[in-house]
Amino acid sequence: MISLERIDQALAWARAALAEAGESEPLDAAILLAHVLGVDRTVLIAHPDQPLLPDQAAVYWALIRRRAAGVPVAYLLGRRAFFDRDLAVTPDVLIPRPETEHLVEMALDWARGRTDLRLVDVGTGSGAIAVTLAAHLPDARAWAVDVSAEAVAVARQNADAYGLAERITFLHGDLLVPVMACGVQADMIAANLPYIPSGDLAALAVTQHEPRLALDGGPDGLDVIRRLLAQAPDVLAPAGLLLLEIGAGQGQAVMALAEAAFPRAAARLHLDYAGHDRVVSLERKG
Ligand SMILES: C[S@@+](CC[C@H](N)C(=O)[O-])C[C@H]1O[C@@H](n2cnc3c(N)ncnc32)[C@H](O)[C@@H]1O
Repeated sequence: MISLERIDQALAWARAALAEAGESEPLDAAILLAHVLGVDRTVLIAHPDQPLLPDQAAVYWALIRRRAAGVPVAYLLGRRAFFDRDLAVTPDVLIPRPETEHLVEMALDWARGRTDLRLVDVGTGSGAIAVTLAAHLPDARAWAVDVSAEAVAVARQNADAYGLAERITFLHGDLLVPVMACGVQADMIAANLPYIPSGDLAALAVTQHEPRLALDGGPDGLDVIRRLLAQAPDVLAPAGLLLLEIGAGQGQAVMALAEAAFPRAAARLHLDYAGHDRVVSLERKG
């Protein structure tokens, strides 16, 4: 019989259970226990002999079992930190990644000194990009689109939580089609769309728990980006900025696609801190 009567016992059991399952991230056991107890992680260190109530022990046991089965911590907590926000996430949305913060930083750099911007976030997922940009650009308006109705609901929840719902219009549909239907000309289109080649998905742990719709970019990974670029000239305003998150090694191909869609503009490739292709940007001629 497993004894989870005290903090130190519960942590020791959880670490062993996670290590046995090959999920050996040492902090996970503590993050999840602090979540169950509703305390800061420092409390676990300061009070190792604090008792657990039977209900708390049962909830913790169940969470550790799910974590040992590979469910990401963000889905177990229902939250993920992104840039300077704390966002709600569910298994219907991609867990926002630090790589996407790079795109957000570029968007904010470009927006500095510009006013009344109209921003479009295509494939909004949890709303990570739209919510963060709207929070930092108080006179901007945003349109956030996703083909997943469940993702749109999560994004709207995150906008509500930060009091931004009035400045973000949520649209359910395919890429820029619903934006065009609203007649919006965007000063910025930012997109982190699926870009993993279909054939690579099976080998990736991420695909077991995150939505395939958020990841699968077709045979070469660029199907969705290619379709977006076909639509973008009808939506991007003169002198507007296009920002596309891409996968490592996709830079040259996406720059060629972007320049074919906007023949008078030069695309630029931006690397992430690991030196991988990460964002393609293109500024439309005024
Ligand atoms: C890689 S996730 C990115 C989510 C979020 N932008 C982020 O950075 O965390 C891609 C998102 O694009 C959405 N998506 C996929 N195909 C789409 C399409 N044709 N039109 C609109 N959204 C699409 C998915 O549902 C998913 O939410």
